[in-house]
Amino acid sequence: MDVKTDVLIIGSGIAALQAALLLEEHYQIQIVTKSSVYMSSSYRAQGGIAAVTSKEDHIKHHIADTLKAGEYHHEKRNVETLIEDGTKIMQNYLKTGLPIDRHLDGKPVLGLEGAHSHHRILHAGGDRTGQIFIDYLLHKLSPKTKVNSYEMAYELLLNTDGDCIGVLTKGEKGIKRYLAHHVILATGGAGALYSSTSNYPNNTGDGIALAFRAGAAISDMEFMQFHPSLLWCENKAKGLISEAVRGAGGTFVDAQCKPIMKGLHPQGDLAPRHITAHALFTKRAAGEETFIDIATIQNFDAKFPAIAQLCYDNQVHLQDGLIPVAPGSHFLMGGVIADDNGRTTIPNLYAVGEVACTGVHGANRLASNSLLEGITFGQKMAYFIIQQGCHQKNFFLDQPQYADKKPPLFSKQQLQQRMMQFVGIVRNIDDLQYFVQQLPSLQSLLHTNLEGMEQAELELFMMHVVATLMTHAAIIRTETRGAHIRTDKSEMDAQWASRWIIFSQGQLKV
Ligand code: SIN
Repeated sequence: MDVKTDVLIIGSGIAALQAALLLEEHYQIQIVTKSSVYMSSSYRAQGGIAAVTSKEDHIKHHIADTLKAGEYHHEKRNVETLIEDGTKIMQNYLKTGLPIDRHLDGKPVLGLEGAHSHHRILHAGGDRTGQIFIDYLLHKLSPKTKVNSYEMAYELLLNTDGDCIGVLTKGEKGIKRYLAHHVILATGGAGALYSSTSNYPNNTGDGIALAFRAGAAISDMEFMQFHPSLLWCENKAKGLISEAVRGAGGTFVDAQCKPIMKGLHPQGDLAPRHITAHALFTKRAAGEETFIDIATIQNFDAKFPAIAQLCYDNQVHLQDGLIPVAPGSHFLMGGVIADDNGRTTIPNLYAVGEVACTGVHGANRLASNSLLEGITFGQKMAYFIIQQGCHQKNFFLDQPQYADKKPPLFSKQQLQQRMMQFVGIVRNIDDLQYFVQQLPSLQSLLHTNLEGMEQAELELFMMHVVATLMTHAAIIRTETRGAHIRTDKSEMDAQWASRWIIFSQGQLKV
Protein backbone atom coordinates (compact mmCIF):
# COMPACT_ATOMS: atom_id res chain seq x y z
CA MET A 1 0.00 0.00 0.00
CA ASP A 2 1.30 3.50 -0.92
CA VAL A 3 0.76 6.68 1.12
CA LYS A 4 1.76 10.03 -0.42
CA THR A 5 2.34 13.13 1.65
CA ASP A 6 4.28 16.40 1.59
CA VAL A 7 6.30 15.84 4.75
CA LEU A 8 6.87 12.48 6.39
CA ILE A 9 8.05 12.49 10.01
CA ILE A 10 9.39 9.20 11.38
CA GLY A 11 9.13 9.30 15.19
CA SER A 12 6.90 11.22 17.57
CA GLY A 13 8.93 12.81 20.38
CA ILE A 14 9.23 16.51 21.13
CA ALA A 15 11.33 17.38 18.04
CA ALA A 16 8.82 15.64 15.76
CA LEU A 17 5.82 17.38 17.30
CA GLN A 18 7.44 20.82 17.45
CA ALA A 19 8.20 20.53 13.73
CA ALA A 20 4.76 19.12 12.85
CA LEU A 21 3.01 21.98 14.63
CA LEU A 22 4.75 24.59 12.47
CA LEU A 23 4.71 22.58 9.24
CA GLU A 24 1.04 21.61 9.32
CA GLU A 25 -0.02 25.16 8.46
CA HIS A 26 1.75 24.79 5.11
CA TYR A 27 1.87 21.11 4.23
CA GLN A 28 0.19 17.76 4.54
CA ILE A 29 2.00 15.97 7.37
CA GLN A 30 2.20 12.26 8.07
CA ILE A 31 3.80 11.01 11.29
CA VAL A 32 4.77 7.33 11.49
CA THR A 33 5.86 5.96 14.84
CA LYS A 34 7.07 2.55 15.96
CA SER A 35 5.03 2.54 19.14
CA SER A 36 2.74 5.32 20.36
CA VAL A 37 3.09 9.06 20.89
CA TYR A 38 3.03 8.30 24.63
CA MET A 39 6.12 6.10 24.53
CA SER A 40 8.99 8.39 23.58
CA SER A 41 12.00 9.43 25.67
CA SER A 42 10.57 12.95 25.50
CA TYR A 43 7.32 11.75 27.07
CA ARG A 44 9.13 10.14 29.97
CA ALA A 45 11.57 13.04 30.55
CA GLN A 46 11.47 13.86 34.24
CA GLY A 47 14.09 16.54 34.95
CA GLY A 48 12.98 19.36 32.72
CA ILE A 49 14.20 21.91 30.23
CA ALA A 50 17.31 23.98 30.78
CA ALA A 51 16.79 27.61 29.74
CA VAL A 52 17.94 30.98 31.01
CA THR A 53 14.96 32.79 32.52
CA SER A 54 16.32 34.47 35.66
CA LYS A 55 18.28 37.71 36.09
CA GLU A 56 21.00 35.92 38.05
CA ASP A 57 21.75 33.66 35.09
CA HIS A 58 23.06 34.46 31.61
CA ILE A 59 23.13 32.72 28.21
CA LYS A 60 26.92 32.79 28.29
CA HIS A 61 26.88 30.70 31.51
CA HIS A 62 24.56 28.13 29.94
CA ILE A 63 26.82 27.92 26.88
CA ALA A 64 29.91 27.57 29.08
CA ASP A 65 28.29 24.78 31.14
CA THR A 66 27.25 22.93 27.96
CA LEU A 67 30.78 23.10 26.53
CA LYS A 68 32.43 22.07 29.78
CA ALA A 69 30.12 19.08 30.37
CA GLY A 70 30.70 17.90 26.79
CA GLU A 71 34.50 18.20 27.14
CA TYR A 72 34.72 20.75 24.28
CA HIS A 73 33.96 18.30 21.49
CA HIS A 74 31.21 20.51 20.02
CA GLU A 75 30.08 22.43 16.95
CA LYS A 76 30.24 25.67 18.90
CA ARG A 77 27.99 27.65 16.53
CA ASN A 78 25.25 25.06 16.95
CA VAL A 79 25.65 25.22 20.74
CA GLU A 80 25.12 28.99 20.55
CA THR A 81 22.02 28.44 18.41
CA LEU A 82 20.71 25.85 20.87
CA ILE A 83 21.04 28.14 23.87
CA GLU A 84 20.20 31.49 22.25
CA ASP A 85 17.25 30.37 20.12
CA GLY A 86 16.14 27.75 22.66
CA THR A 87 15.91 30.36 25.39
CA LYS A 88 13.69 32.56 23.21
CA ILE A 89 11.46 29.63 22.27
CA MET A 90 11.06 28.65 25.93
CA GLN A 91 10.35 32.24 26.95
CA ASN A 92 7.62 32.25 24.33
CA TYR A 93 6.18 28.96 25.61
CA LEU A 94 6.12 30.46 29.11
CA LYS A 95 4.06 33.37 27.80
CA THR A 96 1.67 31.25 25.75
CA GLY A 97 0.48 28.88 28.42
CA LEU A 98 2.81 25.89 28.76
CA PRO A 99 1.96 24.84 32.35
CA ILE A 100 5.45 25.12 33.87
CA ASP A 101 5.68 24.92 37.69
CA ARG A 102 5.62 28.40 39.18
CA HIS A 103 6.00 30.12 42.55
CA LEU A 104 3.04 31.98 44.04
CA ASP A 105 4.39 35.23 42.53
CA GLY A 106 4.21 33.63 39.06
CA LYS A 107 7.95 33.22 38.57
CA PRO A 108 8.99 29.79 37.26
CA VAL A 109 10.43 27.36 39.82
CA LEU A 110 14.03 26.76 38.72
CA GLY A 111 15.70 23.46 39.51
CA LEU A 112 19.38 22.58 39.62
CA GLU A 113 20.97 19.56 37.94
CA GLY A 114 24.45 18.15 37.47
CA ALA A 115 27.13 20.41 35.90
CA HIS A 116 24.85 23.48 35.79
CA SER A 117 26.35 26.58 37.39
CA HIS A 118 22.92 28.16 37.98
CA HIS A 119 19.38 27.12 38.87
CA ARG A 120 17.79 27.09 35.41
CA ILE A 121 15.79 23.87 34.97
CA LEU A 122 12.15 24.59 34.15
CA HIS A 123 9.82 21.74 34.99
CA ALA A 124 6.15 20.84 34.92
CA GLY A 125 4.06 18.68 37.26
CA GLY A 126 7.18 18.24 39.43
CA ASP A 127 8.89 15.45 37.54
CA ARG A 128 6.38 14.99 34.70
CA THR A 129 7.83 17.65 32.39
CA GLY A 130 8.05 15.52 29.25
CA GLN A 131 4.54 14.14 29.61
CA ILE A 132 3.02 17.59 30.17
CA PHE A 133 4.97 19.19 27.31
CA ILE A 134 4.06 16.42 24.84
CA ASP A 135 0.39 16.50 25.89
CA TYR A 136 0.45 20.27 25.39
CA LEU A 137 1.87 19.93 21.86
CA LEU A 138 -0.52 17.10 20.96
CA HIS A 139 -3.42 19.24 22.10
CA LYS A 140 -2.28 22.05 19.77
CA LEU A 141 -1.75 19.76 16.78
CA SER A 142 -4.69 19.79 14.36
CA PRO A 143 -6.42 16.61 13.16
CA LYS A 144 -5.01 17.43 9.70
CA THR A 145 -1.72 15.91 10.84
CA LYS A 146 -2.04 12.15 10.51
CA VAL A 147 -0.36 9.86 13.02
CA ASN A 148 0.13 6.17 12.22
CA SER A 149 1.29 4.24 15.31
CA TYR A 150 2.89 0.82 15.70
CA GLU A 151 4.57 0.87 12.31
CA MET A 152 8.30 0.34 12.12
CA ALA A 153 10.29 2.14 9.43
CA TYR A 154 12.90 -0.25 8.05
CA GLU A 155 14.20 1.04 4.72
CA LEU A 156 14.64 4.56 3.39
CA LEU A 157 13.78 4.95 -0.28
CA LEU A 158 16.07 6.95 -2.58
CA ASN A 159 15.29 8.06 -6.12
CA THR A 160 17.59 7.66 -9.08
CA ASP A 161 19.14 11.10 -8.28
CA GLY A 162 20.06 9.92 -4.77
CA ASP A 163 17.39 12.02 -3.00
CA CYS A 164 15.35 10.55 -0.18
CA ILE A 165 11.73 10.15 -1.24
CA GLY A 166 10.20 7.95 1.43
CA VAL A 167 10.37 4.86 3.59
CA LEU A 168 9.07 1.32 3.88
CA THR A 169 7.33 0.40 7.13
CA LYS A 170 6.08 -2.80 8.66
CA GLY A 171 3.16 -3.01 11.05
CA GLU A 172 0.16 -5.16 11.83
CA LYS A 173 -1.33 -4.35 8.44
CA GLY A 174 1.80 -5.50 6.64
CA ILE A 175 4.23 -3.44 4.55
CA LYS A 176 3.46 0.18 3.61
CA ARG A 177 5.36 2.48 1.30
CA TYR A 178 5.36 6.18 2.18
CA LEU A 179 6.43 8.71 -0.45
CA ALA A 180 7.14 12.32 0.49
CA HIS A 181 8.82 15.53 -0.66
CA HIS A 182 10.64 15.86 2.68
CA VAL A 183 11.54 12.99 5.00
CA ILE A 184 12.41 13.68 8.64
CA LEU A 185 14.09 11.22 10.99
CA ALA A 186 13.03 11.96 14.58
CA THR A 187 13.34 8.44 15.92
CA GLY A 188 15.23 9.19 19.15
CA GLY A 189 18.19 7.37 20.63
CA ALA A 190 19.53 3.90 21.23
CA GLY A 191 19.59 3.37 25.01
CA ALA A 192 17.78 0.04 24.63
CA LEU A 193 20.93 -1.46 23.14
CA TYR A 194 22.04 -1.92 26.75
CA SER A 195 20.69 -4.26 29.39
CA SER A 196 20.44 -1.42 31.94
CA THR A 197 18.79 1.66 30.54
CA SER A 198 16.51 4.55 31.39
CA ASN A 199 15.00 4.28 27.89
CA TYR A 200 11.87 2.51 26.66
CA PRO A 201 12.66 -0.86 25.04
CA ASN A 202 11.70 0.66 21.68
CA ASN A 203 14.70 3.06 21.64
CA THR A 204 16.82 0.85 19.43
CA GLY A 205 18.49 3.46 17.21
CA ASP A 206 16.43 2.58 14.11
CA GLY A 207 16.83 6.01 12.51
CA ILE A 208 20.61 5.72 12.64
CA ALA A 209 20.50 2.27 11.07
CA LEU A 210 18.12 3.46 8.33
CA ALA A 211 20.38 6.42 7.54
CA PHE A 212 23.56 4.32 7.58
CA ARG A 213 22.10 1.83 5.15
CA ALA A 214 20.99 4.66 2.86
CA GLY A 215 24.58 5.99 2.84
CA ALA A 216 24.15 9.06 5.10
CA ALA A 217 27.04 10.27 7.26
CA ILE A 218 26.91 9.20 10.93
CA SER A 219 29.20 10.45 13.70
CA ASP A 220 30.12 10.37 17.43
CA MET A 221 28.71 6.87 17.89
CA GLU A 222 31.24 6.14 20.66
CA PHE A 223 29.53 8.65 22.94
CA MET A 224 26.73 6.94 24.86
CA GLN A 225 25.88 8.77 28.07
CA PHE A 226 25.25 6.73 31.20
CA HIS A 227 22.94 8.16 33.83
CA PRO A 228 24.13 7.44 37.38
CA SER A 229 20.74 6.82 38.95
CA LEU A 230 18.34 4.26 37.58
CA LEU A 231 16.04 2.68 40.13
CA TRP A 232 17.62 -0.71 40.80
CA CYS A 233 15.42 -3.55 42.09
CA GLU A 234 15.65 -7.32 41.67
CA ASN A 235 18.92 -6.86 39.75
CA LYS A 236 17.26 -4.79 37.06
CA ALA A 237 16.88 -1.14 36.10
CA LYS A 238 13.26 -0.10 36.60
CA GLY A 239 13.25 3.54 35.48
CA LEU A 240 14.95 6.85 36.08
CA ILE A 241 15.50 8.67 39.36
CA SER A 242 16.00 12.19 38.04
CA GLU A 243 19.06 14.23 38.76
CA ALA A 244 16.59 16.82 40.04
CA VAL A 245 16.34 14.65 43.18
CA ARG A 246 19.99 15.42 43.88
CA GLY A 247 19.35 19.03 42.88
CA ALA A 248 16.80 19.07 45.71
CA GLY A 249 19.31 17.69 48.24
CA GLY A 250 19.55 13.94 47.61
CA THR A 251 23.02 12.40 47.99
CA PHE A 252 24.66 9.21 46.76
CA VAL A 253 25.50 6.87 49.64
CA ASP A 254 26.65 3.28 50.10
CA ALA A 255 24.94 0.65 52.24
CA GLN A 256 26.55 2.14 55.38
CA CYS A 257 25.13 5.55 54.40
CA LYS A 258 28.64 6.90 53.70
CA PRO A 259 28.62 9.64 51.03
CA ILE A 260 30.02 8.28 47.76
CA MET A 261 30.89 11.55 46.01
CA LYS A 262 32.71 13.20 48.91
CA GLY A 263 36.16 14.34 47.76
CA LEU A 264 35.69 13.01 44.22
CA HIS A 265 34.66 16.24 42.48
CA PRO A 266 34.13 19.88 43.50
CA GLN A 267 30.45 19.65 42.44
CA GLY A 268 29.99 16.51 44.56
CA ASP A 269 26.62 14.82 43.93
CA LEU A 270 25.96 17.29 41.12
CA ALA A 271 29.19 16.57 39.26
CA PRO A 272 28.87 15.86 35.50
CA ARG A 273 27.12 12.59 34.72
CA HIS A 274 30.15 10.58 33.67
CA ILE A 275 31.84 11.38 37.00
CA THR A 276 28.87 10.30 39.13
CA ALA A 277 28.05 7.31 36.89
CA HIS A 278 31.68 6.15 37.04
CA ALA A 279 31.77 6.52 40.83
CA LEU A 280 28.67 4.35 41.23
CA PHE A 281 29.85 1.88 38.62
CA THR A 282 33.13 1.43 40.52
CA LYS A 283 31.33 0.81 43.82
CA ARG A 284 28.96 -1.70 42.28
CA ALA A 285 31.79 -3.47 40.43
CA ALA A 286 33.33 -3.98 43.88
CA GLY A 287 30.10 -5.68 45.00
CA GLU A 288 28.70 -2.74 46.98
CA GLU A 289 25.14 -1.42 46.88
CA THR A 290 24.45 2.21 46.01
CA PHE A 291 21.56 4.48 47.02
CA ILE A 292 20.26 8.04 46.92
CA ASP A 293 19.65 9.31 50.43
CA ILE A 294 16.48 11.43 50.25
CA ALA A 295 16.01 11.94 54.01
CA THR A 296 16.53 15.72 53.81
CA ILE A 297 14.00 16.29 51.01
CA GLN A 298 10.73 17.66 52.40
CA ASN A 299 7.46 16.68 50.64
CA PHE A 300 9.20 14.24 48.32
CA ASP A 301 5.91 12.83 46.96
CA ALA A 302 4.61 16.27 46.02
CA LYS A 303 7.86 17.37 44.41
CA PHE A 304 8.46 14.12 42.53
CA PRO A 305 5.08 12.41 42.04
CA ALA A 306 6.15 10.21 39.10
CA ILE A 307 9.29 9.01 40.92
CA ALA A 308 7.31 8.38 44.10
CA GLN A 309 4.87 6.26 42.07
CA LEU A 310 7.75 4.38 40.38
CA CYS A 311 9.23 3.58 43.81
CA TYR A 312 5.84 2.55 45.16
CA ASP A 313 5.22 0.26 42.15
CA ASN A 314 8.56 -1.43 42.86
CA GLN A 315 8.04 -1.79 46.62
CA VAL A 316 10.69 0.79 47.49
CA HIS A 317 9.53 2.50 50.70
CA LEU A 318 10.33 6.20 50.57
CA GLN A 319 9.94 6.54 54.35
CA ASP A 320 13.17 4.50 54.67
CA GLY A 321 14.93 7.48 53.06
CA LEU A 322 16.99 5.40 50.63
CA ILE A 323 16.36 4.68 46.94
CA PRO A 324 18.52 1.88 45.46
CA VAL A 325 20.16 3.09 42.23
CA ALA A 326 22.67 1.98 39.60
CA PRO A 327 24.00 3.53 36.37
CA GLY A 328 22.65 2.67 32.92
CA SER A 329 22.55 3.94 29.34
CA HIS A 330 20.60 7.14 28.90
CA PHE A 331 21.37 9.32 25.86
CA LEU A 332 23.34 8.97 22.63
CA MET A 333 25.32 12.08 21.74
CA GLY A 334 26.14 10.71 18.28
CA GLY A 335 23.84 9.97 15.38
CA VAL A 336 23.02 11.09 11.86
CA ILE A 337 25.10 14.15 10.97
CA ALA A 338 22.78 17.11 10.52
CA ASP A 339 23.34 20.84 10.12
CA ASP A 340 21.45 23.45 12.11
CA ASN A 341 18.53 23.16 9.66
CA GLY A 342 18.37 19.41 10.15
CA ARG A 343 19.83 18.62 6.72
CA THR A 344 21.71 15.33 6.50
CA THR A 345 24.17 14.39 3.76
CA ILE A 346 21.29 12.90 1.72
CA PRO A 347 19.13 15.49 -0.06
CA ASN A 348 15.54 15.74 1.35
CA LEU A 349 16.47 13.64 4.39
CA TYR A 350 16.48 15.53 7.70
CA ALA A 351 17.40 14.41 11.21
CA VAL A 352 16.35 16.12 14.43
CA GLY A 353 16.47 15.42 18.16
CA GLU A 354 18.44 12.55 19.68
CA VAL A 355 18.81 10.69 16.36
CA ALA A 356 20.77 13.65 14.98
CA CYS A 357 24.37 14.58 15.59
CA THR A 358 24.63 18.37 15.32
CA GLY A 359 27.54 18.61 17.76
CA VAL A 360 25.50 20.42 20.43
CA HIS A 361 26.20 17.89 23.17
CA GLY A 362 29.89 17.28 22.57
CA ALA A 363 31.14 14.15 24.27
CA ASN A 364 28.58 14.35 27.10
CA ARG A 365 25.21 16.11 27.12
CA LEU A 366 24.44 18.65 29.81
CA ALA A 367 21.36 17.60 31.81
CA SER A 368 18.02 18.91 30.52
CA ASN A 369 19.46 20.17 27.22
CA SER A 370 17.68 17.45 25.23
CA LEU A 371 14.08 18.74 25.25
CA LEU A 372 15.62 22.13 24.48
CA GLU A 373 17.37 20.57 21.49
CA GLY A 374 14.07 19.08 20.27
CA ILE A 375 12.14 22.36 20.32
CA THR A 376 15.00 24.49 18.99
CA PHE A 377 16.11 22.39 16.05
CA GLY A 378 12.56 21.11 15.41
CA GLN A 379 11.52 24.74 14.88
CA LYS A 380 14.57 25.73 12.83
CA MET A 381 14.18 22.71 10.56
CA ALA A 382 10.46 23.41 10.09
CA TYR A 383 11.14 27.01 8.99
CA PHE A 384 13.79 25.75 6.58
CA ILE A 385 11.42 23.19 5.03
CA ILE A 386 8.69 25.83 4.71
CA GLN A 387 11.15 27.97 2.69
CA GLN A 388 11.99 25.02 0.44
CA GLY A 389 8.42 24.34 -0.71
CA CYS A 390 7.31 21.14 -2.44
CA HIS A 391 8.47 21.05 -6.04
CA GLN A 392 8.01 18.51 -8.79
CA LYS A 393 10.09 15.51 -7.81
CA ASN A 394 11.61 12.45 -9.41
CA PHE A 395 9.81 9.54 -7.75
CA PHE A 396 11.64 6.85 -9.75
CA LEU A 397 13.08 4.48 -7.18
CA ASP A 398 16.72 3.52 -7.08
CA GLN A 399 17.04 -0.26 -6.75
CA PRO A 400 19.74 -1.17 -4.20
CA GLN A 401 21.82 -4.31 -4.70
CA TYR A 402 21.49 -6.78 -1.83
CA ALA A 403 23.59 -9.79 -0.83
CA ASP A 404 21.95 -13.21 -0.63
CA LYS A 405 23.29 -14.11 2.80
CA LYS A 406 22.11 -12.67 6.12
CA PRO A 407 24.73 -12.26 8.87
CA PRO A 408 24.23 -14.25 12.08
CA LEU A 409 22.76 -12.13 14.88
CA PHE A 410 22.81 -12.34 18.69
CA SER A 411 19.50 -12.57 20.51
CA LYS A 412 18.31 -9.22 21.87
CA GLN A 413 19.28 -10.12 25.42
CA GLN A 414 22.71 -11.39 24.42
CA LEU A 415 23.40 -8.20 22.48
CA GLN A 416 22.24 -5.94 25.34
CA GLN A 417 24.38 -7.78 27.88
CA ARG A 418 27.44 -7.65 25.65
CA MET A 419 26.99 -3.92 24.96
CA MET A 420 26.84 -3.33 28.72
CA GLN A 421 29.91 -5.48 29.31
CA PHE A 422 32.14 -4.44 26.39
CA VAL A 423 30.92 -1.00 25.24
CA GLY A 424 29.77 0.31 28.62
CA ILE A 425 30.85 3.19 30.77
CA VAL A 426 34.29 1.60 31.34
CA ARG A 427 35.92 0.08 28.22
CA ASN A 428 39.26 -1.22 27.04
CA ILE A 429 40.74 -2.09 23.66
CA ASP A 430 40.97 -5.85 24.26
CA ASP A 431 37.27 -6.19 25.10
CA LEU A 432 36.22 -3.92 22.25
CA GLN A 433 38.31 -5.83 19.73
CA TYR A 434 37.09 -9.17 21.01
CA PHE A 435 33.48 -8.01 20.71
CA VAL A 436 33.73 -6.38 17.27
CA GLN A 437 34.92 -9.70 15.85
CA GLN A 438 31.65 -11.27 16.99
CA LEU A 439 29.54 -8.59 15.32
CA PRO A 440 28.60 -8.58 11.62
CA SER A 441 30.82 -6.59 9.25
CA LEU A 442 29.72 -3.10 8.23
CA GLN A 443 29.49 -4.24 4.62
CA SER A 444 27.21 -7.17 5.42
CA LEU A 445 24.93 -4.89 7.45
CA LEU A 446 24.80 -2.47 4.55
CA HIS A 447 23.81 -5.08 1.98
CA THR A 448 21.49 -7.43 3.88
CA ASN A 449 18.12 -7.85 2.21
CA LEU A 450 15.46 -7.11 4.85
CA GLU A 451 12.58 -8.34 2.76
CA GLY A 452 10.49 -10.99 4.51
CA MET A 453 11.79 -10.20 8.02
CA GLU A 454 9.22 -9.90 10.80
CA GLN A 455 9.13 -6.73 12.90
CA ALA A 456 11.08 -8.20 15.83
CA GLU A 457 13.77 -9.47 13.48
CA LEU A 458 13.97 -6.09 11.76
CA GLU A 459 14.43 -4.39 15.11
CA LEU A 460 17.15 -6.83 16.12
CA PHE A 461 18.90 -6.22 12.83
CA MET A 462 18.78 -2.43 13.37
CA MET A 463 20.22 -2.94 16.85
CA HIS A 464 23.15 -4.86 15.37
CA VAL A 465 23.82 -2.05 12.88
CA VAL A 466 23.94 0.53 15.68
CA ALA A 467 25.96 -1.70 18.04
CA THR A 468 28.52 -2.31 15.30
CA LEU A 469 28.89 1.41 14.56
CA MET A 470 29.28 2.15 18.27
CA THR A 471 31.88 -0.54 18.82
CA HIS A 472 34.01 0.46 15.82
CA ALA A 473 33.92 4.10 16.89
CA ALA A 474 34.78 3.17 20.49
CA ILE A 475 37.86 1.28 19.26
CA ILE A 476 39.09 4.19 17.16
CA ARG A 477 38.76 6.92 19.80
CA THR A 478 41.95 6.17 21.68
CA GLU A 479 41.33 8.51 24.59
CA THR A 480 38.96 9.04 27.48
CA ARG A 481 36.57 11.91 26.81
CA GLY A 482 33.15 12.74 28.16
CA ALA A 483 30.70 9.94 28.65
CA HIS A 484 33.01 6.92 28.89
CA ILE A 485 36.31 5.81 30.39
CA ARG A 486 38.91 3.89 28.34
CA THR A 487 41.00 2.13 30.98
CA ASP A 488 43.87 1.60 28.51
CA LYS A 489 43.81 5.29 27.41
CA SER A 490 42.71 6.99 30.57
CA GLU A 491 43.80 10.53 29.64
CA MET A 492 42.07 13.05 27.44
CA ASP A 493 44.12 13.67 24.28
CA ALA A 494 43.91 17.29 23.02
CA GLN A 495 44.27 16.13 19.40
CA TRP A 496 41.01 14.24 19.67
CA ALA A 497 38.89 17.20 20.83
CA SER A 498 37.96 18.23 17.31
CA ARG A 499 38.21 14.87 15.56
CA TRP A 500 35.02 13.14 14.48
CA ILE A 501 34.74 9.46 13.68
CA ILE A 502 32.42 9.35 10.68
CA PHE A 503 30.73 6.53 8.79
CA SER A 504 29.68 7.67 5.33
CA GLN A 505 28.48 5.65 2.32
CA GLY A 506 28.94 2.65 4.62
CA GLN A 507 32.68 3.33 5.05
CA LEU A 508 34.59 4.42 8.12
CA LYS A 509 36.36 7.81 7.92
CA VAL A 510 38.27 9.48 10.74
C1 SIN B 1 17.16 13.56 34.71
O1 SIN B 1 16.05 13.98 35.01
O2 SIN B 1 18.02 13.22 35.51
C2 SIN B 1 17.45 13.41 33.26
C3 SIN B 1 17.44 14.70 32.58
C4 SIN B 1 18.23 14.65 31.31
O3 SIN B 1 18.72 13.61 30.93
O4 SIN B 1 18.41 15.71 30.72
